Amino acid sequence: MERFGQSVLHPAGAEADTVAMLWWIMLAGSALVTALVLGLVLYVALRDPSRRRPVSGRWLIVAGGVVLPVVPLTSLLFYSLDATARLRTAAAEPALTVEVQGHRWWWEVRYPGEGMAAFTTANHIQLPVDTTVRLRLTSQDVIHSFWVPNLAGKLDLIPGVPAEIILRPTRTGLFRGQCAEYCGAQHANMALHVEVVTADAFDAWRTRSQQPATFADEPLARRGEALFHSSGCVACHTIHGSPAHGRVGPDLTRLRERHALAAGTLPANRAHLSAWIVDAQHFKPGSLMPSFTGFSGADIRALVAYLEGLQ
Ligand code: CUA
Repeated sequence: MERFGQSVLHPAGAEADTVAMLWWIMLAGSALVTALVLGLVLYVALRDPSRRRPVSGRWLIVAGGVVLPVVPLTSLLFYSLDATARLRTAAAEPALTVEVQGHRWWWEVRYPGEGMAAFTTANHIQLPVDTTVRLRLTSQDVIHSFWVPNLAGKLDLIPGVPAEIILRPTRTGLFRGQCAEYCGAQHANMALHVEVVTADAFDAWRTRSQQPATFADEPLARRGEALFHSSGCVACHTIHGSPAHGRVGPDLTRLRERHALAAGTLPANRAHLSAWIVDAQHFKPGSLMPSFTGFSGADIRALVAYLEGLQ
């Protein structure tokens, strides 16, 4: 899977193309104005002083004060109004709706459906390529902003104000997104990944995600499962199809397919998962995940074996 650097300048979606084009036009326009002004400065500076003549003030005001700013700014205004309209209206009726809720400081991602067909992920959005998708954005705490620059423009999640973003990824790959509105101490640690795959791979992933979670049936993982359900983890976390239904923290079903831990705070690997459970407050102070310093090394290994084996 190709990993893309988080950048507006490497668009991989129809909406991101529009934003990138606007950026290039503004760069070209401002480069032109800069060149023009520098050219004029050089022209005046290098000119023979004896041939300088005073310029009429009225001419300067009309040309430099009115025409020069109004023409490019008005053209840019109309271009950006048109670009915004294109960003707001889908070229085709969205074939998929995904609900994204911002929390301090992680992303809840819900794929709606009937009963068990609905499922939830966290900090991870899976999308089919070349498909128009509607993302419904909500927040129940403070204002966040959803921004995956390679795929689409940015949109605020304002509590009580439903918003939606339409996007159509045009390339498969892994894209990073980031909360783009300051939302508290861990705002910088509120990232997410969008994995764009082929339509077939997406259907297979969705079917798999709709099944109740299973885990490796071996003693360590079984011990981890028992600990998970007896140690308070279930009060905050959900495992699809298990008695764990907590909604305070991220859904941990299929944690193994996430590309980072704790919303982009740590790399996704066994060592960091262990360290996160033991002392989350060290890595992300103020988050709702407590540090579980009371677990023994064997407890942690069991919990990690259970969580890593979930699929
Ligand atoms: Cu959420 Cu910044």
